[in-house]
Amino acid sequence: RSYTIAVLPGDGIGLEVTPPALRCLEAAAERFGFTLNFRHFEWASCDYYLKHGKMLPDDWKRLLQECDAIYFGAVGDPARVPDHISLWGSLLRFRREFDQYINLRPCRLMRGVPSPLANAKPGSIDFLTVRENTEGEYSSIGGMIFEGTERETVIQDTVFTRVGVDRVIRYAFERARARPAKKLTSATKSNGISITMPYWDQRVAEIAKEYPDVKVDKYHIDILCAHFVLRPHIFDVVVGSNLFGDILSDLGPACTGTIGIAPSANLNPVSKRTDPDWKPSLFEPVHGSAPDIAGKGIANPVGMIWAGQMMFEHLGETEAAAAVLAAIENVLGDAQDRLQKGGEDVLTPDMGGKGTTEGLGKAIEIALKTS
Ligand code: NAI
Ligand code: MG
Repeated sequence: RSYTIAVLPGDGIGLEVTPPALRCLEAAAERFGFTLNFRHFEWASCDYYLKHGKMLPDDWKRLLQECDAIYFGAVGDPARVPDHISLWGSLLRFRREFDQYINLRPCRLMRGVPSPLANAKPGSIDFLTVRENTEGEYSSIGGMIFEGTERETVIQDTVFTRVGVDRVIRYAFERARARPAKKLTSATKSNGISITMPYWDQRVAEIAKEYPDVKVDKYHIDILCAHFVLRPHIFDVVVGSNLFGDILSDLGPACTGTIGIAPSANLNPVSKRTDPDWKPSLFEPVHGSAPDIAGKGIANPVGMIWAGQMMFEHLGETEAAAAVLAAIENVLGDAQDRLQKGGEDVLTPDMGGKGTTEGLGKAIEIALKTS
């Protein structure tokens, strides 16, 4: 088996977490007998933009479509290029033009990572958020009327299509069905948003009939956020519209400690390359380019490495994926134990240590080679 991976490190700490992460993925590939061919691209970065006046080369779509998956660091250099140019000119184009309609984020409390939740224990938080990634509240339909007058009014429409809603809900049910707890929670707000949200609820109820083995519940988004903080152990798979999913998929990882470890997958779930509808999916850490710590060599590489783990799952390399996750968990857990005994410190500062990007990356790479 052999895979071609488009590597786009982007800006800031994206450039720092990518090399150690690639070495971890290579170690896993070698151990499980497949090869990774990395195609390194310097575009989708602010440096490229400042040189060429655009974020992407004209043939970007073809270049990415030739690869099996996209491995993306982080884009953004707000002091030199406005964020709406860098993000809309790269990442958001990939999501839309490759129809990556699922945004998937695992949320897991790991040994060794301090959680802000006082009573949370490792293993007690382990769920997936599934966010609709292409429509919903983030439409560009709307505008302003009576501008500059007392009656000035802005309107922005929410768009839920049957196809768009059904495909994300069905995907979430499939994920729930494949997990031991087989439970799906839907985020709604049908008490306040009286047209689109009842429709969402109705589609969840309809599709639930196809999944009698999956337990379903729903919460309004406001109380759901409270439960994320107060009772995170009750969740298994959580599905939400573009806006609600966006909120939940940042809140979840925040409850498990640092955003530096959180990964994310932007999926077009058609995973067979031979399918005429196939388009590449994109794997990235949740965090951005972190200009405040860029260049210091202290960025946490775990988010990037874990994103590679999700990429392995998508490619069907489930054994390698499991090994990468185990290596991350073991290294972080053992590091915390060692640290408490006054030993070597590989935890980066966001996890309370004095370690470096290279040092932590190396520890995970070694764990993958030796375990
Ligand atoms: P950010 O995620 O880059 O940083 C937020 C805070 O978390 C900072 O204090 C940073 O030091 C810390 N942090 C982030 N990742 C870390 C890691 N791996 N290890 C240790 N600490 C980490 O978000 P911010 O500051 O709002 O945005 C900075 C730039 O990144 C902007 O240009 C923004 O548009 C862009 N951005 C890009 C994203 C992407 O490429 N998907 C996502 C979020 C932001
Ligand atoms: Mg967000």
